[in-house]
Amino acid sequence: MPATSILDAMNTRQRLVRVARYFTRPFYAWVTLTASVLLGAALEPAIPAMLKPLLDQGFNSNTLPLWMIPAAVIGLFMLRSSASYLADVALAKIAQTNLENLRSAMFHSISLADMRLFRDNAATSLANTVVYEATNGAVLLLQSVTTVVKDSLTLVALAGYLVYLNWQLSLIVMVVFPVVAVSMRSISRRVYSLTKTQQRMVDELAYTVEESVLAHKEIRIQNAHEQQKKRFEGVNASLRSVTMKAAIAGSAVAPITNFFGSIALSTVITVAIVQSQTNHLSAGGFIGFVTAMLMMIAPIKHLSDVSSTITRGIVAAERAIDLVENVDYETGGEFTVPRALGQIDFHEASVHYPDASEVALDKVSLHVAPGQFIALVGLSGSGKTTLASLLPRFVERSAGTISVDGVDVTQWNLAALRSQFAWVGQNVVMFNDTVLHNITLGQAVDRDRALAALQAANLAERVQELPQGLDTVLGHNAGMLSGGERQRLAIARAMYKNAPVLILDEATSALDTDTDRLVQASLRTAMRGRTTIAIAHRLSTIKDADCIYVLGRGRILQQGTHDQLMQKGGAYLEFIRLSQS
Ligand SMILES: Nc1ncnc2c1ncn2[C@@H]1O[C@H](COP(=O)(O)OP(=O)(O)OP(=O)(O)O)[C@@H](O)[C@H]1O
Ligand SMILES: [Mg+2]
Repeated sequence: MPATSILDAMNTRQRLVRVARYFTRPFYAWVTLTASVLLGAALEPAIPAMLKPLLDQGFNSNTLPLWMIPAAVIGLFMLRSSASYLADVALAKIAQTNLENLRSAMFHSISLADMRLFRDNAATSLANTVVYEATNGAVLLLQSVTTVVKDSLTLVALAGYLVYLNWQLSLIVMVVFPVVAVSMRSISRRVYSLTKTQQRMVDELAYTVEESVLAHKEIRIQNAHEQQKKRFEGVNASLRSVTMKAAIAGSAVAPITNFFGSIALSTVITVAIVQSQTNHLSAGGFIGFVTAMLMMIAPIKHLSDVSSTITRGIVAAERAIDLVENVDYETGGEFTVPRALGQIDFHEASVHYPDASEVALDKVSLHVAPGQFIALVGLSGSGKTTLASLLPRFVERSAGTISVDGVDVTQWNLAALRSQFAWVGQNVVMFNDTVLHNITLGQAVDRDRALAALQAANLAERVQELPQGLDTVLGHNAGMLSGGERQRLAIARAMYKNAPVLILDEATSALDTDTDRLVQASLRTAMRGRTTIAIAHRLSTIKDADCIYVLGRGRILQQGTHDQLMQKGGAYLEFIRLSQS
């Protein structure tokens, strides 16, 4: 064995052990599985062994009572089927019990993961790992490992029986069958590598469909049908071709086995006839021998291609386990307080996103007193969202300090820190749940307060028009609401949360002027007694701010009230000119 394959084998063993740790329970199912697999394997030689006396005594000497034949055959097959049934059920029990836990662990991991996870992985890929990969991988793996154990034992038992029956004939089998195994193995290698390509093609095909569904409007307005179709058809054709190759290779297995089988069979028959003339080989003994020999083909076939299945299973299961073990959780401090005053301080805070050439935020310092209303303005990409994201620790600073109520955000308990903020973001995401639960999200449910929040966000009337009012299920990302309505719903959610700090990131950009005015009024109410950070392009939103910060390329260029800044001129005046044109 070359050095690399020894390494591979060790590696596979270690990886198998790692996966196995997740599949140790339940104990009784493992006991049942082991017992029934052992019984099943031990029973295999019983079939040819039973044939011998049945044939010899039944046909030749007629010494066997007739009832014994069905009794023996049916009894044996019932025992064998029961063993196989129990093994299957126990295996399913092991797989499903542990999978349920593994899936929960993965979901838990995703819920608490450091935000980097979502930057590095597409949503579909995480969903795929939790929903499909884990299940397929585990089931595949458990089945293959059981196959290895069961078939190896069966082979040993059958081979033992052959030798016991007739060691000379066994020699022929011992020569032919390894040849079968080797040829089977080379075919299965090819099938395996083709299957891997096939899997990649399937992923790609699914991705193309998914993209076409998500971007169905863009494709229509851009008339990009042809382009998408070409992409799809390219992958579609490759998938067909690689699947065909795999099918052709796979179909060769049966004829090749049969060919070697026929060689073995004809040699055995010839030698047996010669033997029957010289020494005593009964017809029953011969049939028993041939049956046992043919029964060895199936386990050899399984064993020769099981290693690729095991590899595939390990790879899939590892993806799931990595999600549980190798995901960093968010970490926070100890400090908690039920309700903060809402004082916010940034001291020379900088953010440098990984892989970015420039800093997104460059030594920003600012102070917001409890209850104050500050506004952030600046061109797109100037760092406004980044600045606000530092507060609930959606983004980690590269330098400087950021504190809430004088306590550094890293010293805050994360849940406590985040409960101090209500956030209405640029991309409002709604859950496929009722209006009520979208408003009360994560908080105790109080219908009256939810209605009041809707009223304040100027959305109560629209919600009353919905078929089930507050209890209407909104569908995927509340697709049945308009963009402006979705934003007002997000404002209602923020008001319901009643947190000491309110962050509005372009909260009113999707509203028409009339609604804007109404929401502005209600936002004013919501802002009362709260620290508010508003990011806006509209003058109406920011005019009354206690302090306006003008950001440019991650730096604070100017700060002051609207009137002060208007007098100063410069960046702010430029911003006003742009926002009104
Ligand atoms: N996750 C990220 N990874 C790398 N770079 C990022 C990331 N998020 C933002 N940036 C970059 O950081 C800079 C500041 O982004 P930010 O979202 O804070 O801008 P903004 O002022 O909110 O802009 P807009 O008005 O368009 O919302 C931009 O250059 C942006 O490309
Ligand atoms: Mg932004």
